Amino acid sequence: MRTTFTCRLVKLFAVISALVLSAHILVSTLSKHVPKPYPVPVEDYRVLSPQTYHYVLNQPTACRDRSPLLVFMVPVAPHQAEAREAIRATWGAPNEDTLTLFYAGLPEEGSGVQDKLEDENRKHADIIQMSFQDTYQNLTIKTMMIMNWLATYCPNANYFMKVDADIFVNVLYLIRWLRSSPQQGFITGSVITDGRPRRESNSKWYLSEEVYPEDSFPPYVSGAGYVLSADLAGRISWASRFVRMIPMEDVYVGLCLRVLGVRPVYSYSLPTFRNLFEIRKVEYNRCSFARCLIVNGFKPSKLLHVWTDFSKGHTSC
Ligand SMILES: *[C@@H]1O[C@H](CO)[C@@H](O)[C@H](O)[C@H]1NC(C)=O
Repeated sequence: MRTTFTCRLVKLFAVISALVLSAHILVSTLSKHVPKPYPVPVEDYRVLSPQTYHYVLNQPTACRDRSPLLVFMVPVAPHQAEAREAIRATWGAPNEDTLTLFYAGLPEEGSGVQDKLEDENRKHADIIQMSFQDTYQNLTIKTMMIMNWLATYCPNANYFMKVDADIFVNVLYLIRWLRSSPQQGFITGSVITDGRPRRESNSKWYLSEEVYPEDSFPPYVSGAGYVLSADLAGRISWASRFVRMIPMEDVYVGLCLRVLGVRPVYSYSLPTFRNLFEIRKVEYNRCSFARCLIVNGFKPSKLLHVWTDFSKGHTSC
């Protein structure tokens, strides 16, 4: 009787140990799944190194002698003058808390766009341009040069927002909300936690296993519009020494965040838990826009139109 009992006890102990051990192995393989960051070979890092390019247009004094709460940084193609004009006249109009700058690469040579861009910049002094070709596949270069610029020329700002040119931004709501947001290690936007590389070679987002061997992406924020605390710009720029370039700029920033051990956070409004950075088209209505931080899908003319009405009295909603 007694022996069987001891026997059972031993068995039970063995089963429990086996369970604990396998759980331990499972957890350690899961955490081993995150590859240890190794520096990218020098010749591969060059494409994302700020040393590789030079400024054609720069605004080194835009941020000097002031500490804006928020700097909007808008990546644009050189020819998108109309979009820039609309942004300057709407949410990008300078005020005491915000500053808006545009970031472009080089236009196609011989297009005549460069002269127009330089004229426009003489008038507004808000365009930064660096010497890489402005193409869709080079957006990762643009984003990383933006991070470097912010860290270099705008160290006294509190927050940065990278925001596309076709977005409506509810500035007053955004400012109010930022005043109670974390000030360090903070990045928020439309968080994507289940991203995976496309392996079909005809996909617009195709990534070969050679370029990206893992079968999923770490959490990242959609590139359309996201906010980060100012400290992160320099840290993300630094982390790019450990992450090989991939052409999807938002996933790339997510890979840099993983190196830093920073998780992008989801932002919602209480009490409904509504996603503040929901990326979708919303039919214009003054009061439904008043509850959003950003809305996407705006042509310049529509942005101007909506803004005129929105400014009339959304505070009464
Ligand atoms: C990206 O920019 C670099 C530097 O200007 C250029 O050599 C390269 O062709 C561009 N890549 C693409 C895919 O446009």
